[in-house]
Amino acid sequence: MLSQEIRFVLRKVPQLQTGGLAVARGLHNAVLKGGSGVRRVADFLHGTWLGHPLHPVLTDATLGAWFMAAPFDLLGLVSGSARRAADQLTILGVITAVPTALAGMLDFSTIKRGAAGRGALHGLLNTVALVLYASSARARQQDRRFVGVMYSMLGLGVVSASAWLGGELVYRLRIGVNHTTAGREPQDWAAVGADAELAEGQALRVEVNGDPVLLYRHAGAIYATSAVCSHAGGPLDEGMFDGTCVQCPWHDSVFDLRSGEVVHGPATYHLPAYDVRTTDGQIEIRVRQETAQ
Ligand code: FES
Repeated sequence: MLSQEIRFVLRKVPQLQTGGLAVARGLHNAVLKGGSGVRRVADFLHGTWLGHPLHPVLTDATLGAWFMAAPFDLLGLVSGSARRAADQLTILGVITAVPTALAGMLDFSTIKRGAAGRGALHGLLNTVALVLYASSARARQQDRRFVGVMYSMLGLGVVSASAWLGGELVYRLRIGVNHTTAGREPQDWAAVGADAELAEGQALRVEVNGDPVLLYRHAGAIYATSAVCSHAGGPLDEGMFDGTCVQCPWHDSVFDLRSGEVVHGPATYHLPAYDVRTTDGQIEIRVRQETAQ
């Protein structure tokens, strides 16, 4: 239903795609150049510590407050306490919208090319909604209640359309979902290549039961994880290696190859890691036993 309108807007305003992508890349570069402190803040806002993106968690607080304010505004026609509740919920939504927007901007900074236009439109709609709700809160404080409620109604319409677009980004375009496919097989040791063919500091991509697996040798030890970046599917075998860490070539997530854990976002999901051994000159792997189900 709304998808046709969205496609129409994106066709008519191609700058949303091109400009959105430029803004996203500029933001990402600023984060990378900002030093370790900025990177830590960015990791926090991505949700690297949470195990999945932080933005959708925060949107629940903001949208919950604004959506709840609407029925209280209706009840406010006959109840003073309902009016006060609506006013407080409106302000709560405005306050929580700030970290929600920051987390969303960070996720947008590493959005894939094909989703940049929709991501930019989502951000613009949210900005309009925030301005409308901030205006509503101000009007309510100035005792211009009718104007305040009108601003809220407009804001509710805009933020609802934007929430729908956010769902499109996640469920249709797979922004923020886990892109790794490996990690369940093989349960038993399986040969994946000759030990002699993997030199020190070399990365190799092999297929095991259809899953791409990254092999990497460092200081004599061999590590094996999914070769597909959990953030958006980047090829980790083409990444930059530093000690036991690999940096994704697409958006610079960093993973520890010993455990598959995320060291730096935007990725929030760990990589499946494998047990590795060498038998009769063959590298063998199996799904890591403590994580096997
Ligand atoms: S695909 Fe985005 S960081 Fe790897």
